[in-house]
Amino acid sequence: MMKRRIAEILRSSQPDETVTVRGWVRTKRELKEFAFIEVNDGSSMANLQVVLDRSLPDYEDLLKPLNTGASVEVTGTVVESPAKGQRIELKASAIALYGESDPETYPLQKKRHSFEFLRTIGHLRSRTNTLGAVFRVRNAASHAIHQFFQERGFLWMHTPIITASDCEGAGEMLAVTSLDLNNVPRSEDGAIDYTNDFFGKPAYLTVSGQLEAEVMAMAFSNVYTFGPTFRAENSNTSRHLAEFWMVEPEMAFCDLTEDMDLAEAFLKYVFKSVLENCPEDMEFFNKRIDDSVLATADNIINNEFERITYTEAIKYLEKASKKFEFPVEWGLDLQSEHERYLAEELFKKPAIVTDYPIEIKAFYMRLNDDNKTVAAMDILAPKIGEIVGGSQREERLDVLERRIREQGLNPENYWWYLDLRRYGTVPHAGFGLGFERLVQFMTGMTNIRDVIPFPRAPLSIDF
Ligand code: 4AD
Ligand code: MG
Repeated sequence: MMKRRIAEILRSSQPDETVTVRGWVRTKRELKEFAFIEVNDGSSMANLQVVLDRSLPDYEDLLKPLNTGASVEVTGTVVESPAKGQRIELKASAIALYGESDPETYPLQKKRHSFEFLRTIGHLRSRTNTLGAVFRVRNAASHAIHQFFQERGFLWMHTPIITASDCEGAGEMLAVTSLDLNNVPRSEDGAIDYTNDFFGKPAYLTVSGQLEAEVMAMAFSNVYTFGPTFRAENSNTSRHLAEFWMVEPEMAFCDLTEDMDLAEAFLKYVFKSVLENCPEDMEFFNKRIDDSVLATADNIINNEFERITYTEAIKYLEKASKKFEFPVEWGLDLQSEHERYLAEELFKKPAIVTDYPIEIKAFYMRLNDDNKTVAAMDILAPKIGEIVGGSQREERLDVLERRIREQGLNPENYWWYLDLRRYGTVPHAGFGLGFERLVQFMTGMTNIRDVIPFPRAPLSIDF
């Protein structure tokens, strides 16, 4: 007998077909002659309605444990559904219980739970409609990302998680220690003597795979990384995580304009692909989470992004400075309220801001001819703010060495990175997309902790 996923059955099964499904009970309703259970296996937002007829052997005993959260296997015949909103339902001929679920203690009830509450039951929240939809969209977006780059001949390169170099030079790294838990060194007062020591050398969790992606781009021309990155970010905001996923393409023989063109084409592609592959989930977000989700997707796909320089952006912001809590002045970094104003209110679409002052950007960005700005680009999205950060890289050895020193970093720690400029250097560029921010942007979810299965942020590391 065919065992199939519920999404497929709902889509294509015909009356009289016999099917078997496995999943978790969402609801149970008992009437006089029948009972209904709704079963979900995660393959779609929609549940499969199963009808249990009193004529089933041991009907009462069979029905009793079929509570919300229980896991079951149901075999039955597909019938046309008299109920509104569903094409078919399943008339059960056999039901087997895998695991029961006590309705008195099961934390998920048939009501709307707050996202705050759901975060306290991170091990069960994926069984709700909203988190289910989020993680299907997350999966579809991941797939689209790989498709986009693979179709264009980019090689996916795996960059290390443990590293000695601080890519952003911001000192926001989480330290790694090779502490042997069976033989913990203790100081005289008995406290554990943690040292930032990875078998004798300091090591950290990577903040970005960019520097290593540059290494690989200098051999394969076009590469990308897609993996977890870490920031010792002790800020409790709805846009920051300590562990987040980043997509980072890196292209040799590429300048800032080509970098922006790629980033824009990339975002358009991923939105389009998710709309095509998760239409029901996207409609759900539009109806239940944020009624601008579908219009936003349409806007991204069909309109060109705005492109302005940082200097122009400052002029626009100065005109609206009364709206802001933080000061606006050439030389200061843009705050999230400024970024959102530009994208959300002024342009009403994503804006790519280029050529930031040298003082507020990382050491590796290429110095412009004005000696004041660097070839950086940030993509600002409505409601999110910065979603992409990228740049053309400094390919000139002498300038790069000077920039490293100027930022108070030690060139010796970047010897291999500098070697890339010694041997066959080329103009090159890339960007980093914060994957969770993209999923937020797509789904309208307001808190970044609700778009990653296991959020890592201050005070949220239960398991
Ligand atoms: O702007 P960032 O720091 O750029 C880099 O790391 C570069 N090395 C990327 C590159 O050029 N290859 O980070 C890139 C993006 C940001 O635009 C933001 O979307 C996301 O990563 N991001 C975070 N997302 C969630 N939580 C955090 N704490 C984040 N910090 C950055
Ligand atoms: Mg940035």
